[in-house]
Amino acid sequence: MEELKILPNILVVDDEVNVIESFRQLLEDDYKVLTATNGEEALEKVEKENLDIVLLDIRMPGMDGIEVLRRIEEMKENVDVIMVSAVNTMKTAIEAMKLGAYDYITKPFEAEEVVVSINKALEKRRLAREVSYLRSQVAKPVKFDNIIGTSEKMRQVYEIVSEMSKNDATALISGESGTGKELIARAIHFNGTRKDKPFIPVDCASISESLLESELFGHEKGAFTDATSRKPGRFELANHGTLFLDEIGNLKLDMQGKILRALQEREIQRVGGVKTININVRIISATNIDLKKAIKEERFREDLYYRLNVVPIELPPLRERKEDIPLLVRYFLEIFNREFGKEIEEITPEAMESLVNYRWPGNVRELRNVIERLVVLTKEGIISYKRLPLDILLAASTGDSDMGEEGLLLKEAREQFEKQFIIGVLEKVNWNQTEAARVLGVHRNTLIMKIQNLGIKRV
Ligand SMILES: Nc1ncnc2c1ncn2[C@@H]1O[C@H](COP(=O)(O)OP(=O)(O)OP(=O)(O)O)[C@@H](O)[C@H]1O
Ligand SMILES: [Mg+2]
Repeated sequence: MEELKILPNILVVDDEVNVIESFRQLLEDDYKVLTATNGEEALEKVEKENLDIVLLDIRMPGMDGIEVLRRIEEMKENVDVIMVSAVNTMKTAIEAMKLGAYDYITKPFEAEEVVVSINKALEKRRLAREVSYLRSQVAKPVKFDNIIGTSEKMRQVYEIVSEMSKNDATALISGESGTGKELIARAIHFNGTRKDKPFIPVDCASISESLLESELFGHEKGAFTDATSRKPGRFELANHGTLFLDEIGNLKLDMQGKILRALQEREIQRVGGVKTININVRIISATNIDLKKAIKEERFREDLYYRLNVVPIELPPLRERKEDIPLLVRYFLEIFNREFGKEIEEITPEAMESLVNYRWPGNVRELRNVIERLVVLTKEGIISYKRLPLDILLAASTGDSDMGEEGLLLKEAREQFEKQFIIGVLEKVNWNQTEAARVLGVHRNTLIMKIQNLGIKRV
């Protein structure tokens, strides 16, 4: 009996008829091919037909591909879009990926490339249908769209990440604490050719010196007192995948030497072992210290530095890309609303301004923590600046920000401080006002006045 085959539905959108024709010839044996020659027609078909994939030309007269993509995403149809771009500009393609496109191919296209991309998308759809419940159990791949920021500096980073996902090159990510180094490392891995293989992080700063060697290279049974059984190291675990060496600047010189040897020879030996094990790992490392300076001070080996720093990726501190702050604030608001079952829709313009102008020494991680705390603590549907942590208010008022004279008035910050301080004391004395006044060293009437003026309420 002939097997009934349901062909996947593919919509080809291009204003040039001969491009459509060449796609049709390439695809019609294995897929049901629908076509559209402009954006409006494409949107109509996306709405009506039960499509799996849209091949979407970027440059079209009238509504261009990016706009069509934007609208398709808004429609929330379960369809994957592959962009077809004649202009080989990485930027447009990246913009498209950030908007939700699954992939992009460049014209003139190679048949093979098109088919591979389509099949990858179809495979992804099949998997998504089959095992959505499994998703929570596997390591969460970080896609491009988990990285927020449209500033020029971040775009440059996306360009590199995008290039890096096509090859196996070694990268060194540098940036202040909390700038997203690990996030970028994961993005490179999980968008790259090794994405189905392991991503193994090693935090060189948190693992004790004595353990690090066996963590990295593994050990044989009996190699040292605690080695009761054989254990593979992270180099081995990462084989064919990516090894992420985090905080590389914290490595001691002798470990640096051992790692360098492993990278040069592409082989390792377990501690206490004699066998050499071949390894094929991609190395991505990260540092928040200036390695050049460390080299000068003879704390870091120059030869290792050059081996690691094949492709340098520098992550800008948040204060150098302020325009991304509102995007990040909204992104984290959404995340924590969901997590804590809240519905905080807004943040007042004053509060946003304080957040934008704060210096964020802890960068995105600090911002994330602040928003998390705000979502937990805010009971209203809106976050006002009064809710902001004291250090941000104080920074804004003392000019420890780029806000200058437009900042919050010192008076407001002082009041805010006073209020929290008084509440703290009141809580300690179980809201006994006489006792609180004594602790604060003020007359009870003064305290009562302050409680009224500052709007202090027992919660
Ligand atoms: N551009 C971004 N968009 C969304 N989230 C981000 C972004 N950058 C960082 N984050 C989030 O901020 C937090 C810190 O990021 P990550 O751990 O990657 O930083 P890091 O540079 O490795 O920090 P550290 O030096 O402290 O190890 C994570 O929760 C991460 O998801
Ligand atoms: Mg990190």
